[in-house]
Amino acid sequence: MNNKPIIGIVGAGAMGSLFAFFLRKYTILLYDTNPNTVNAIKQGLSVEIHSEKQTFYPTISNDPAILASADIIFLFIKSFATRDAIDTIQHYIKPDAIVVTLQNGIGNVELISSMINNPLVYGTTTIGATKLSPASVRFGGTGSIIIGGDSYSHCSTVHSLLQNANLTVTIAPDPKKALWEKAIINAAINPLGALLEVPNGKLIENNNTVKIMAGIIQEACLVAQANGIMTDSNHMIETTTTVCRNTQNNFCSMLQDILAKRKTEIDSINGAIITFAQQYSIDTPYNTTVYKLIKYKESQLI
Ligand code: PAF
Repeated sequence: MNNKPIIGIVGAGAMGSLFAFFLRKYTILLYDTNPNTVNAIKQGLSVEIHSEKQTFYPTISNDPAILASADIIFLFIKSFATRDAIDTIQHYIKPDAIVVTLQNGIGNVELISSMINNPLVYGTTTIGATKLSPASVRFGGTGSIIIGGDSYSHCSTVHSLLQNANLTVTIAPDPKKALWEKAIINAAINPLGALLEVPNGKLIENNNTVKIMAGIIQEACLVAQANGIMTDSNHMIETTTTVCRNTQNNFCSMLQDILAKRKTEIDSINGAIITFAQQYSIDTPYNTTVYKLIKYKESQLI
């Protein structure tokens, strides 16, 4: 790979737009299926970061052929759209292009690797981002990136790229654990943020939401442990509290989806935890309640 790799980004939503900005010193090729988003971003993509607004001009298209020359392709699509996106882009991407997923939820990695043979680097990020309009995004608070994968050399290429963009990134020896831990954080924050329509910081200011989040996390940790992921619930409660604090003004992605009348990622977050729980006969009343309430909310959107 050349030392100035060409970066493809699939999905110009909040995170895709923000990462395009972070990586703007490289050639960025953005692919999004929404013609309104594509047309708006062609006039410039604005990023509000620490109260400062910057506009840049990435190349964007709703034609997946735009990705043909990309060396590293980031997927910033909703988990429920993964199958369709891979189905579309697989005919255009180079066979040796590194595909990177930092998507929320459980199950994306398995799905992607069952569909393509490209080297896959996967992980999580706790960076917050809010889409303000089709062509503007607000940085929603600092967070870290954890990546991993089968090939150390591909992980290290992606690691250097993100580090050169001044992002905090680590290569985890056990990225599956990182994925589960991120899903547990999302399981606690996202449905509550979306149901109560509050930014993440509000969730740790009230005893009732703090207790519900702890209940969700304790159940999810039991499920993770039954599935061989050794994670500790006290540690996860602390980590979730830190994420809420660091992204205190950010509307979580699930709230942004509900406000934009979009389907949410509840199925790959609390939904996936509930499915695994059933396999291990673990009761998940907290997760099941918020899952059903979000499903109700989704049913009222159309
Ligand atoms: O889904 C989200 O919104 C994000 O993963 C996080 C870290 C909870 C920040 O809002």
